Amino acid sequence: MGLVWRCFVALSLCTFAAGSDFLQDPYPAGRSRFEKSSNIARKAVELVKRSLPEWLAPASPKHNIQRRSTDSCNGLQGYEAKLDANTHSYTLKDLSGSVSLAWVGDGTGVILALTTFQVPFFMIRLGQSKLYRSENYGKSFDDVTELINSTFIRSEFGIAIGPENSGKVILTAEVSETLQARIFVSSDFGKSFSHHDLPFIPLMQISYNPQDSNVLVVLSNKNAMWLSQDFGSSWTKIHDMVCLVKWGAKSNLFFTTNSNGSCSDRGMLDLKRTTDYGKTIKTVARKIYSFGLGGRFLFASVMTGTVSGTLRIIHVSVDHGDTWNMAQLPPVGHEQFYSILAANDDMVFMHVDEPGDSGFGTIYVSDDRGTVYSKSLDRHLYTTTGGDTDFTNVTSLRGVFITSVLAEDSSVKSVVSFDRGGEWVPLQKPSNSKCDATAKDPDECSLHLHAAYSTAMRLNVPMLPLSEPNAVGLILAHGSVGDAISVMKPDVYVSDDGGYSWIKALDGPHHYAILDSGGLLVAVEHNPTEPINTIKFSTDEGQCWHEYNFTKEPIFFTGLASEPGARSMNVSLWGYKETFLAQYWISITIDFRELLTRDCGDSDYVQWLAHSDDVSDPKDGCMLGYKEKFRRLRKDSVCWNGRDYDITKQHTPCTCTLDDFLCDFGYFRQENSSECVEQPDLKGKVLEFCLHGREEQLQTKGYRKIPGDRCEGGQMPERKEIDLRQHCVSDLVEPSQASSSSKSMPAVITFIVIVMLLSVVGGVVFIKKYVCGGRFLVHRYSVLQQHAAENGDLDEPLETNHTRNGKIEFHDDSDEDLLE
Ligand SMILES: *[C@@H]1O[C@H](CO)[C@@H](O)[C@H](O)[C@H]1NC(C)=O
Ligand SMILES: *[C@@H]1O[C@H](CO)[C@@H](O)[C@H](O)[C@H]1NC(C)=O
Ligand SMILES: *[C@@H]1O[C@H](CO)[C@@H](O)[C@H](O)[C@H]1NC(C)=O
Ligand SMILES: *[C@@H]1O[C@H](CO)[C@@H](O)[C@H](O)[C@H]1NC(C)=O
Ligand SMILES: *[C@@H]1O[C@H](CO)[C@@H](O)[C@H](O)[C@H]1NC(C)=O
Ligand SMILES: *[C@@H]1O[C@H](CO)[C@@H](O)[C@H](O)[C@H]1NC(C)=O
Repeated sequence: MGLVWRCFVALSLCTFAAGSDFLQDPYPAGRSRFEKSSNIARKAVELVKRSLPEWLAPASPKHNIQRRSTDSCNGLQGYEAKLDANTHSYTLKDLSGSVSLAWVGDGTGVILALTTFQVPFFMIRLGQSKLYRSENYGKSFDDVTELINSTFIRSEFGIAIGPENSGKVILTAEVSETLQARIFVSSDFGKSFSHHDLPFIPLMQISYNPQDSNVLVVLSNKNAMWLSQDFGSSWTKIHDMVCLVKWGAKSNLFFTTNSNGSCSDRGMLDLKRTTDYGKTIKTVARKIYSFGLGGRFLFASVMTGTVSGTLRIIHVSVDHGDTWNMAQLPPVGHEQFYSILAANDDMVFMHVDEPGDSGFGTIYVSDDRGTVYSKSLDRHLYTTTGGDTDFTNVTSLRGVFITSVLAEDSSVKSVVSFDRGGEWVPLQKPSNSKCDATAKDPDECSLHLHAAYSTAMRLNVPMLPLSEPNAVGLILAHGSVGDAISVMKPDVYVSDDGGYSWIKALDGPHHYAILDSGGLLVAVEHNPTEPINTIKFSTDEGQCWHEYNFTKEPIFFTGLASEPGARSMNVSLWGYKETFLAQYWISITIDFRELLTRDCGDSDYVQWLAHSDDVSDPKDGCMLGYKEKFRRLRKDSVCWNGRDYDITKQHTPCTCTLDDFLCDFGYFRQENSSECVEQPDLKGKVLEFCLHGREEQLQTKGYRKIPGDRCEGGQMPERKEIDLRQHCVSDLVEPSQASSSSKSMPAVITFIVIVMLLSVVGGVVFIKKYVCGGRFLVHRYSVLQQHAAENGDLDEPLETNHTRNGKIEFHDDSDEDLLE
């Protein structure tokens, strides 16, 4: 087995190392730190065992949009002069070790850059902050430090940008002598700031009500919940002993409390809700471990009231906690966890951890009620200690998800689903790649992608997979080609058809960004030790790459920054330079607008049927009951989509087959059959299926339309109605019942976590560097939240931490527990 497997199998060991580093990290969860891979990891690759599990057949080749012949790559010429005239360099005369960036508003070009000079060697934090503001997408900045009166801004809370295009900004400062807290607020896109002193010390970043950016909520370091309805001027204490607070839809505020004064007493928490900013508070559930929001669903994991009451189970509400149903998911013990991988209004992907420290679990997909689940993927990689999963919603094509499994031989392999979790297959081998040493057959292997797990393992992977909803079909990711993920230096792969086919686009690790809705890709080599001066770009979705030297004096490059939403043509390269005495930050912004000399016209676009693999099949391209035909830019068109570019697509409904239906609870599909048959072990048994905890009858038809499936006509399965429910054994559910039903309630609870991954925007790059004298400085470059509207599809924002490229990682309050 060897080292890799000691690493990948003994996940506790490896991730513990990551975890303990994480605890020392002065910044909150979700941030990434990029380093070169360790020798251990590098050596380990030779020892990877090689076999694809039999249950996985590689993705069949799909037909994709036309390729151009590579000899046409030299079509674009003489761009250097145009780009030279549009390259702007700006130096921040600033010795700070970190800079945080935030875009304010959409299409405003306003960027705030906050630098913080911290001395991390003392228990007390000494520091000074400077604030810079750009109104032209980063081409130049003004030093506006006087707006914050040189106060030390707590950069770990970041720059809190208001929802929608509100132009609101909050900076949280510390006034060190008195240890008093102060906030600087702006309502005019950071042009002017006023300040308010807080009657408490905040524990977390201040959170905007996504429906009304004047309403703010925050927890204090004494766990009191404070609320402001006038954008931070006056604050009211709403509740003591609050463990976790989240905004729900329609100004609902959910929070957990513990009357006994300890948030570590998990499983004894109350879940409360207020709809009127704290005037009235309703307890909606008791005996809570944790709760989470996803799509229109509110989830709570609740202690079971049975004798062996160390188990807990998920309960689901679709009416903000008024009524609850028990999810048909296996209960978990104290050492296991549930995790919401992705959720929208239709359905939820739920990960249920396997008992023991296995490092994997099972993915279940829900029905539209969030209560009935079908098994989607076994052996799904998700480390218990580190909380890392590779699960990725490919936002550029409906229904596509990528994640990793831990194979029987303990190797890590990537799998993709094109039908929202219905079936998972390996990724097709790129046509221009050879299988690496991990493959037992040099011609038969698949592509494996690096995602959050690889970055947690400190592999040399500077960015997570990248996709954007307006760049149809495009995915950029680091990966390797073999029988399992390799820990050797990864390359960059690109798919233009939503993950069916791939090409190797760039050698070695790169930072990358999507501009002009996919019309332009840019990439910069990741090389923390050598200064660089070259940016690569592609106008044909990654087939041909051109190089441009953006400066004569190379810089130590730390990260790319472009406006979230992938509509911009301006990209900034951030890095630093060293002189004899000092280092200073430098930002080089390139405006590609003049490279693409003309606007795209009708003849620049072609029709593309998504998910198509066999044009002769009438069901070709059908996904969840309908086909989508997109208008896409031709590969050889060099033109500008423009900021206002809208995706044009045509929907065609498909006729229904049994595959458009899920088996309802108590039914299952036999292998190779679309028919749902009744589960024999449930026949005539009392089922613990509680609907609304009332005397309602659960009626199942055996089949349920897959949530979001829009098929029409065709085969409609015969509907049976069988009363499965005779007896209700739900534990929680209405609070009034809960208090009376708490018979035996062991209070031994260690941890739970609900982690949500939403599709989003933002980024952080760390580069560690020794400077003379052996002092250790952390160079941090971070892209912070722009506005909640872009926080993906969830209709309520969650506390979010921003990781690289289009990912917001959300952790609830149990991170610390998780890392113990
Ligand atoms: C800035 O800080 C100084 C010293 O703390 C104080 O005297 C001054 O009033 C402050 N100015 C503003 C505009 O807050
Ligand atoms: C609070 O603590 C007391 C004794 O320590 C215990 O009896 C009671 O059940 C606890 N209540 C809650 C809600 O944790
Ligand atoms: C995946 O992302 C797409 C595009 O952002 C979104 O519409 C969809 O709801 C997401 N799916 C899930 C299950 O979160
Ligand atoms: C760009 O810079 C590299 C060195 O970083 C150099 O080798 C190359 O010749 C330069 N290209 C042009 C066109 O100047
Ligand atoms: C690029 O930046 C300039 C300002 O310098 C701005 O006018 C232009 O709209 C930006 N381009 C895009 C596509 O965002
Ligand atoms: C299901 O189909 C596969 C291939 O089509 C076959 O190998 C397998 O034996 C079938 N299983 C059953 C139970 O029929």
